[in-house]
Amino acid sequence: MKAVIPAAGLGTRLLPMTKNSPKEMLPIVDKPAIQYVVEEAVNAGIDDILIVTGRGKEVIENHFDVAYELEKILEERKEFEKLGEIRRISQLADIYYVRQHLPLGLGHAVYMARKHIGNEYFALMLGDDIILANKPCIKQLMEVHEKYKSSVIGVQKVEREEVSKYGIIEYEKVEDGVYRLMDIIEKPSMEEAPSNMAVMGRYILHPSIFSFIEKTKPGKNNEIQLTDALKAMLKEHEIYAYEFEGKRFDVGGKLDWLKINIELALKRDEFSELRKFIKDEIL
Ligand code: UTP
Repeated sequence: MKAVIPAAGLGTRLLPMTKNSPKEMLPIVDKPAIQYVVEEAVNAGIDDILIVTGRGKEVIENHFDVAYELEKILEERKEFEKLGEIRRISQLADIYYVRQHLPLGLGHAVYMARKHIGNEYFALMLGDDIILANKPCIKQLMEVHEKYKSSVIGVQKVEREEVSKYGIIEYEKVEDGVYRLMDIIEKPSMEEAPSNMAVMGRYILHPSIFSFIEKTKPGKNNEIQLTDALKAMLKEHEIYAYEFEGKRFDVGGKLDWLKINIELALKRDEFSELRKFIKDEIL
């Protein structure tokens, strides 16, 4: 299965940081955010990844390319551990790029992938969402897809007060953690929301999604919304939702970006002093 990672958004929630740097390259401890998403795909066995980029996102391509001069210098200095890590990044998978010329919305970004994907199911992984899980989140969805032979959307429950930040689903339980989608609505108010089960940036989609996007008019924020295309698709195709195991961070927002940095840093032995620093000097 191929994966698509849309990374062409403007990232206004992270301004001023994102004025001239893509949010996907924000460091999370010592790796750019998008590398975590690429590694999730690779750990799920995916080796063909299409990244949808846009203006000013060239550094993403350079990050996953061979850095010849750097490799040469590290080799001369015999810094083999760093060299191995740098080389590993350029060998992670076959990574392709397509540009979304204008940020017209997530649905439109996904549509850019239609030629690369062709007529097969594909994994869609939003570059903003990082999910820490024992089994890669997209792998969990792939397994549900294998069983039900349909599109699958990753969901998790959120606080009622938070529903207006997400795509929210109406559903019918099929088995523990697996639901049949009845409806989907983008950023509803608390009153409109049919549940508190929110869409979390991981999908396995049938390629017919492209023809539904094609017919989708700009919706919320005047953007072509993937949710609206999914809603139209639902009338003709079964779609399942899976409540995946894992802790999800929306690193397109400042608070979650700070949180994941602290969480991952505290897990690393080399930063063991951090815990003491937080306890003794901050709290
Ligand atoms: P967001 O809703 O986070 O929008 O996009 P955004 O523009 O990137 O960020 P803010 O809200 O202004 O801070 C969700 C995902 O869809 C991609 C983004 O890169 C992100 O992974 N996206 C969004 C596109 O690729 N193209 C678009 O036109 C819009």
